[in-house]
Amino acid sequence: MCGIVGYVGKRKAVPILIEGLKRLEYRGYDSAGIAVLDKEGLLLEKTAGKVAILENLLKNKNFESTTGIAHTRWATHGEPTDLNAHPHLDCKSKIAVIHNGIIENYRSLRELLLRKGHHFTSDTDTEVLAHLIEEYYKDDLTKAVRVALSQVEGTYGIAVVCSDHPDLIVAARHGSSLVVGRGDKENFVASDVSAILRHTNQVVYLEDKEVASVTSKKFCITTIDNVEVTPQIQEISWTLDQIEKGGFPHFMLKEIFEQSSTLQNAMRGRINQEEGTTRLNGLNLLYEELHHIDRVILTACGTSWHAAMIGEYLIEDLAQVPVEVEYASEFRYRSPIINDGTVVFAISQSGETADTLAAVRETKRKGATALGICNVVGSTIARETDGGVYIHAGPEIGVASTKAFTSQIAVLTLLAIFLARMRGMSVERGKEITSALKEIPSQVENILKKHSYIKEIASQYYKKNNFLYLGRGINFPAALEGALKLKEISYIHAEGYPAAEMKHGPIALIDENMPAVVIALKDNVYDKVLSNIEEIKARKAKVIAIATEGDTQIEDRVDQVFFIPKTLEQLTPLLSIIPLQLLAYHMAVLRGCDIDQPRNLAKSVTVE
Ligand code: G6P
Repeated sequence: MCGIVGYVGKRKAVPILIEGLKRLEYRGYDSAGIAVLDKEGLLLEKTAGKVAILENLLKNKNFESTTGIAHTRWATHGEPTDLNAHPHLDCKSKIAVIHNGIIENYRSLRELLLRKGHHFTSDTDTEVLAHLIEEYYKDDLTKAVRVALSQVEGTYGIAVVCSDHPDLIVAARHGSSLVVGRGDKENFVASDVSAILRHTNQVVYLEDKEVASVTSKKFCITTIDNVEVTPQIQEISWTLDQIEKGGFPHFMLKEIFEQSSTLQNAMRGRINQEEGTTRLNGLNLLYEELHHIDRVILTACGTSWHAAMIGEYLIEDLAQVPVEVEYASEFRYRSPIINDGTVVFAISQSGETADTLAAVRETKRKGATALGICNVVGSTIARETDGGVYIHAGPEIGVASTKAFTSQIAVLTLLAIFLARMRGMSVERGKEITSALKEIPSQVENILKKHSYIKEIASQYYKKNNFLYLGRGINFPAALEGALKLKEISYIHAEGYPAAEMKHGPIALIDENMPAVVIALKDNVYDKVLSNIEEIKARKAKVIAIATEGDTQIEDRVDQVFFIPKTLEQLTPLLSIIPLQLLAYHMAVLRGCDIDQPRNLAKSVTVE
């Protein structure tokens, strides 16, 4: 969602804040703003549109300030206009607030504050925070923030400055990530470490309902009830290179091309080839507890939910443990049956998705074990679960998730093998799967070498407005994910379907204007998928097939075919998704879309 960055130190704040905002822009990008503290008081600049527009506006201003806060927004309440952009000010323009999250009781707070004579200038929920803090402010900003937040329902990551305190930022969180970065005679706050990584890799993750009082020399953390907290400093291992584009035109393409190495990272040290099994030490479960698992629930959102669906096939097929896949947003609001042997895995790249986090909390409330499959180390889900597995994909910046998806599948495969070997699976079968898995990174590399062919295919199809994506078995979720990638970044309508279901509805849509992308691999349903292709062709639609290398039957039946290397059926989504990611990417480029910041989307959805 929104991005927050703050600086307090001896250097000029504006360039540091703008650079931080640019790194956070993937979180939200419909408006941006900055507030800095100067001898003259609070200086503010904000605008609808991207950070580049804000940067331009600031060019002639020459702000010398060494303390400031900045924000890039993903609108929840109020349109993305100049007025609704953050920061928001109190009546006297002394206090500035930036906010990520949603203040659920903002209407009643606003009415209360209006009655007390406050004037509002925006349609946002955030503005109530500025006025509420003003209401309680005498001379202690931190105290006023604490008291104000005790009246607030909802989620927030906030940073606040006040013109009476030119060397102070107050930050707080509840449900929206916030870190304090420790520098040398300077300190930072940010919604995400990538914003401040250039300056420091020493950070403290705030916990819910904690308030940090940050000056250039030190920071103190308390709870909102004013109980002192000892900060736990963590060292971030991500490098600056990892969060830059490295010569690629877009983060998404860079991340697609990283998949050979990110898959290796997901598997490194986790395969025990000799015994045909895997090691997942982070699960933190005893042998007996692992044996006791008789049901697995995989819960997630978006792309991670598609990875969960693939996980369902893998765990049921290999380990014969029943699996349910649940949208996290649904899980939290129904009464899922959780018994003694149920384990819930929350899958989340960011580890901050509000619905997935709520599902974790619901699981724990019901007394069950909640485990995480996350990318971002130290993220809220990673911290709140009882254990889990990091996917080690490195920072994913492109809003459309790519490398995190394949790494999630790799980890789910390791998990399936692990559970399977504790149950009925033989060493031989285990060895067969683990050695095929080890081949995957180089097979991905080979697919990526043929990426210009995908570009050529894209050039023939990018003007079409509707697509059907079909797959069967374990490649049905891959088809869903291929369709999602296309929707997200090219705004082309695309529907994913199990190939055989096509006859029950989607076939009505098929004509020469609706191409179909069909995953038609040499597996046990290959012949049936060929029949589906015939049905599509009979209705004059074009077909792009993803097929297995060495398949000689398919070429004559489809319009274009992209071959992927042969592997075990269980591992095919790790390969079939690569050309689909590239297809979406190239179509979106040809349509002139904003690849890394597609409209209306955000990388990390920290509101319900
Ligand atoms: C957003 C992103 C998606 C992502 C989903 C879940 O919708 O745009 O790319 O798949 O959130 O995110 P998570 O971080 O929990 O995997």
